[in-house]
Parts: sequence; C-alpha cells; structure tokens
Amino acid sequence: MKTDVPYERVVVDVQRKREENSRAQMYYRCGLALASIATLLLVALTLQNLLFTRGRSSPPSPAPHPRLSLPISRTCSDPCRVVLVESIPEGLVFNSSTASPSIYQAWLNLIGEARSSLDVASFYWTLTNNDTGTHEPTADKGEEVLRRLGELAGKLPVRIAFNKPHNKHPDEWPANLKLLANHGADVRPVDMLALTTGVLHTKFWIADKKHIFIGSANMDWRSLTQVKELGAVVYNCSCLAEDLSKIFEAYWFLGQGQEIPSPWPSTFSTAYNEDTPLQLPLNGTKSSVYLSSSPPALCAEGRTADLQSVLSVMEDAREFVYIAVMNYLPTMEFSFPKRYWGEIDTQLRRVAFERRVKVRMLISHWASSQPVMIPFLRSLASVQDPKSKLDIQVRLFVVPSTPSQRKIPFARVNHNKYMVTDKLAYIGTSNWSGDYFVNTAGSALVVNQTDASPTQEPTVRAQLQAVFERDWNSAYSTPLNHNFNGLET
Ligand SMILES: *[C@@H]1O[C@H](CO)[C@@H](O)[C@H](O)[C@H]1NC(C)=O
Ligand SMILES: *[C@@H]1O[C@H](CO)[C@@H](O)[C@H](O)[C@H]1NC(C)=O
Ligand SMILES: *[C@@H]1O[C@H](CO)[C@@H](O)[C@H](O)[C@H]1NC(C)=O
Ligand SMILES: *[C@@H]1O[C@H](CO)[C@@H](O)[C@H](O)[C@H]1NC(C)=O
Ligand SMILES: *[C@@H]1O[C@H](CO)[C@@H](O)[C@H](O)[C@H]1NC(C)=O
Ligand SMILES: *[C@@H]1O[C@H](CO)[C@@H](O)[C@H](O)[C@H]1NC(C)=O
Repeated sequence: MKTDVPYERVVVDVQRKREENSRAQMYYRCGLALASIATLLLVALTLQNLLFTRGRSSPPSPAPHPRLSLPISRTCSDPCRVVLVESIPEGLVFNSSTASPSIYQAWLNLIGEARSSLDVASFYWTLTNNDTGTHEPTADKGEEVLRRLGELAGKLPVRIAFNKPHNKHPDEWPANLKLLANHGADVRPVDMLALTTGVLHTKFWIADKKHIFIGSANMDWRSLTQVKELGAVVYNCSCLAEDLSKIFEAYWFLGQGQEIPSPWPSTFSTAYNEDTPLQLPLNGTKSSVYLSSSPPALCAEGRTADLQSVLSVMEDAREFVYIAVMNYLPTMEFSFPKRYWGEIDTQLRRVAFERRVKVRMLISHWASSQPVMIPFLRSLASVQDPKSKLDIQVRLFVVPSTPSQRKIPFARVNHNKYMVTDKLAYIGTSNWSGDYFVNTAGSALVVNQTDASPTQEPTVRAQLQAVFERDWNSAYSTPLNHNFNGLET
C-alpha cells in the first residue's frame, strides 16, 4: 500500500534516532576511550578513502552526507523579529493579561509589507459570507483580507498552492481563488489525495522571501473571528523565509501534476534541521530554529519529518510538556480498516515515566469531536500518581456559543496546534492523529532559545507557555475525569 512507505520511513528514522541517542549515552558511560578509538578509526578510514579515490579517474560518487556538504552557513544575521499571534473567537474573555496581536493584523501587515512576492500554502478558501452561506457581520475581516489579496495580486506575483478538491471540476474550485486568479494570482491545486492519500493541510505565508506566517489558521473568515487559532509571524528573516520557500516550492512543483520525486532534486534540500538548526537572532535573542515537514515523502534531503520533530521536542523536555491541539487520537483517523498508531502516545507515556516530565494536554471538544478520542485521552489522564511521580493531566477546552453563533458551521472551537516545553516551542499546522504525520502535508516551526539571558525580552517559548497557562486555567477548560461522557457544546 502506498501509504505504508512514508510511514515506515518515519518509524525507521525515529528508531535510528533512538539508537543514536542510546549509542551516545553508551559512549558517555563507557568514558572517552571508546569515542577516541572510534574517532581514530574514522580518520583512518577517511584518509584511506581520500587516497583511494585520488588514484582513480572515475566520476566522483555522490557525497555520503550531502547535508554536510551544502555550502550554506548555519548562522544568519538577519534582524528577525518574531510575534506570536492569535485569533480569539468573539465573546471569549480571559481573566489574564496575556494577549497576543491578532492573526488578522498579521496578515494585513504581510500584505502591506510585500514588495516583490507573496506565496501562500493553504488547505481550502472560504473568506467570505457567500462561501459559507452565512450573513455574519464578523466575516468582514476575512472579506477584507480577500479584497487586499486581490489588490496585491494586481501589483506583484502572488502564488497560491491549495489542496485539490476531490472530484471537482476547476469551475467548482473555491470562488475566492477564481477571484484572485482573475486579479492575476497564480493558483495551483495540489492533489495530495492522489499523491499520498492525504490532503494539503499546511497553512503558511511567505512575503518577499523575507517575512513569514505559520500556524493553525485556514484561509477562512471564521479563522479570524470565530475559531481560536495560534501562529507565529517572523519579519525580516530571509534565511528562515528562504528555507520555508523550499517547502512551498515542493508544493508548487507537485501542483503541476507531477509525481513525488524520490529523491527530491537537491534544490529542495535543506541544511537546517533538528541536528543542525539555523542559528539566528529573534528579537535580538540568540536562537536556533528549524522547519519540519510532513509527510516524509515530501521531505527533501536534510528536512526533519514533522513526527520526528514532535517526538524529539518531547524527548528534550526536562520539566514539562504542554500540548494544545484540536484533536488527539492514537489512531489513523481516516484509514480503513482501522489502524492503531501509537507513536506520539508512547512517547508521552515514556517521557512521563522515564524523565518524570509533567505532561498537560489541552484538547478541544466540540460537535465534530470523535467520540473515540475520549477513552484514549482518559487512558493518558490515568497516568497520574504522585507516589510514582507520574503526572499526565488532560483538560478539554470548549468555546461557548450564543444561539446565533451556534448556527455558524464548523466554528466555535479551539483549533490550536502547538506544544511548549521547558526548553522549546513547537508551532504546527497538523491535527494530532496518525494521518497528519503519515500522509497529510503539514509543517511546523521549532524554536530553541535556551541560551537567552533572563534579562532580555520574553522569549517566544515563554510567551507560548503564558498562552497555554492562560487557557489551561480559564473557565473554558474542564479536567477530563473518569466519568466524562461528553460535554454540552
Ligand atoms: C457565491 O457562492 C456561490 C456558491 O458557493 C458561488 O458559485 C459564487 O461564485 C459566489 N459568488 C462570489 C461573488 O464569490
Ligand atoms: C524590517 O527591517 C526594516 C529595516 O531595518 C525596518 O524598517 C522594518 O520596519 C522591519 N519590518 C518589520 C515588519 O519589522
Ligand atoms: C538548544 O540550543 C542550544 C544551543 O543554543 C543547545 O545547546 C541545546 O542542546 C538546544 N536544546 C535543544 C533541546 O535542542
Ligand atoms: C482536523 O480535525 C478536525 C476535527 O476532527 C476536523 O474537523 C478537520 O477536518 C481536521 N482537518 C482535516 C484536514 O482533516
Ligand atoms: C519581538 O518584537 C516585536 C516587535 O518589536 C514584538 O511585537 C514581539 O512581541 C517581540 N517578540 C518577543 C518574543 O518578544
Ligand atoms: C473570570 O473571572 C470571573 C470572576 O472571578 C469568573 O466569573 C469568570 O468565569 C472568569 N472567566 C474566565 C474565562 O476564566
């Protein structure tokens, strides 16, 4: 089966990583002697290799570690500024001073800043009341974004990659995209269903290959005023934007109706990943960052797969792992026959047990939640015993609605997709079930600012932790107890 290929690749990668980790620990335990012998051996082998290849006239074989041979500096001096941004649904009020600028304003800023190009990776487009068959005054922000995008498309190259709707003639593609194409935007459908049996679920923007947005918000008016969303904008950061462009270019390439190349041509390769992150200043604070991507089949050489980044962020935590995701399932959500998929679940239990890490999971509950989510969450939440120092807790977040808000289809939900630990911040675009890491296209920004001095501005990680704690402690979140059988939404 086609889907098994990327899945197995992830598993192999994760296992390799674990083996590497345990090997590293072994060296540590056995002292330096073993490591030195290994180094000597390596040097000897390299010398031998050099002498051997010199003496031959055959064409050079491909470098064994293309990642290391990319002539890219890992250090970037762009004056990058990062802003955590949120959409808070109408009517939600927090008793907290933690507040972020809006995603709406961030999008207008990006449109305003763009001088030479705008690239948007998107799932679907419903920015107006007309698209959702509603008459909501709060659709005005989405409608304004669409109007501004139309203006921009008349002035400079605007490229939009979106998920190809299943079984639909181009005439039935989103009206927003037809409008933008009429203004001059270049629009390409990516047929993820045919390519990997998934969807293009990624949500990011790149302006002038310099400023970026990445986060949970879809190109949907509800994502600005009726759905709770979280993302990050990074301004004046060419090195990061150029790396995100490589992910965009992969979608753009596939949008021509191409098969997935294997391997991807080297122009899609990256030098920045979990092992060798990009070093850059974020608001003047020394940071290391990388972008991960899913599914593995869309990862060119050097790119960390999104599942690998989720697992490693958990692995690196020493005190806590806070997770806010819309849905959490240790299963493949959309595959038949049903399949259990325990990669993330196992890692959570493992770090809670082996490292005594405190795990908090804030999961959304709404009309479209799958009932099977609750018993699996309850199982995680039962890993709780002060004597054994096991501490996993789960809460459900419910966005309340007035009778008229309840009529808005697929709205009034916490759509967040992030994780924050005592070390790192992870801001993603995927629901947390197997499909999103195995066959659906998504991406994430991983930020490490552990070197920040405490006197500097708050870090993104600290800001994200404050957002999590605000939501966790709010009246909208309820502990998942043993007797939970569904909430009124
Ligand atoms: C309004 O929605 C209908 C049905 O979705 C669509 O056919 C039409 O093109 C839309 N009109 C505009 C102006 O977007
Ligand atoms: C980017 O940097 C330029 C030049 O330093 C500055 O004028 C501009 O305000 C910055 N843009 C943003 C969005 O921070
Ligand atoms: C974070 O970055 C520092 C270097 O700036 C590095 O020493 C540390 O290992 C990184 N932490 C994680 C969890 O990746
Ligand atoms: C993400 O999960 C929600 C809740 O199950 C679902 O409504 C939504 O369609 C999912 N996204 C995709 C792309 O399937
Ligand atoms: C970085 O700077 C921007 C603009 O100056 C500010 O809005 C933002 O909150 C800062 N981010 C952090 C993490 O301090
Ligand atoms: C805010 O505080 C008031 C008064 O203490 C309380 O009634 C309300 O439920 C709180 N709201 C939230 C969202 O926590």
